[in-house]
Amino acid sequence: MPKLHIADHPIIQHKLAILRDVNTEPQRFRQLVRELAALLCYEASSDLRLRPLSVQTPMGVASGAQLAEAVGLVPILRAGLGMVEGVWELIPNAEVWHLGLYRDEKTLRPVEYYNKLPVEPRVQICFVLDPMLATGGSAVAAVNVLKRWGVNRIKFIGIIGAPEGVKALSEAHPDVPIHLAALDERLNESGFIVPGLGDAGDRQFGTS
Ligand code: PRP
Repeated sequence: MPKLHIADHPIIQHKLAILRDVNTEPQRFRQLVRELAALLCYEASSDLRLRPLSVQTPMGVASGAQLAEAVGLVPILRAGLGMVEGVWELIPNAEVWHLGLYRDEKTLRPVEYYNKLPVEPRVQICFVLDPMLATGGSAVAAVNVLKRWGVNRIKFIGIIGAPEGVKALSEAHPDVPIHLAALDERLNESGFIVPGLGDAGDRQFGTS
């Protein structure tokens, strides 16, 4: 059973519909990616571990808590970049480790072109950020890299997924929860999600 979470929150669904719209301009598109990333991260981070803390208030001492895990954000270039700022708003101390992966247009297989991970991980949990989970090849490759690096707690945060991508990721890494705003119908013959939103990288960076 895949650990698949589809966010049905009304605000997420409202923003997703605007994001999908072919008439949404890059500036608005980037804003929506940032906002959706924050909302999806809020849900995905509900089981982060806490350590207890005492806080001096103006009126006395309160029992509180602080995050006990160092969080790593791993945006998959390029499209995942736009999700970082939104997640950072919630977890400002998170480290960001970029992974460069692009899909070969013919084979649809991921090609790694950027990885500057240090030898030893300094984080206990990683959120892989990529708006689109199409064939799942990029997400599987990213999780492979992170597991080889030594991180055992990993979550995938995307915006739209195809059934093919969810299947590929959950079969390769059944321990990795998948958080999405929508699970769409299918992939087309070019490997694009239908109905999806087009190319999330091009739409953010105005390169279509
Ligand atoms: C897109 C998307 C994902 C990947 C998903 O990136 O942003 O990274 O494809 O496809 P998959 O699940 O089949 O691997 P793309 O290769 O277009 O690169 P870009 O973000 O630089 O545009």
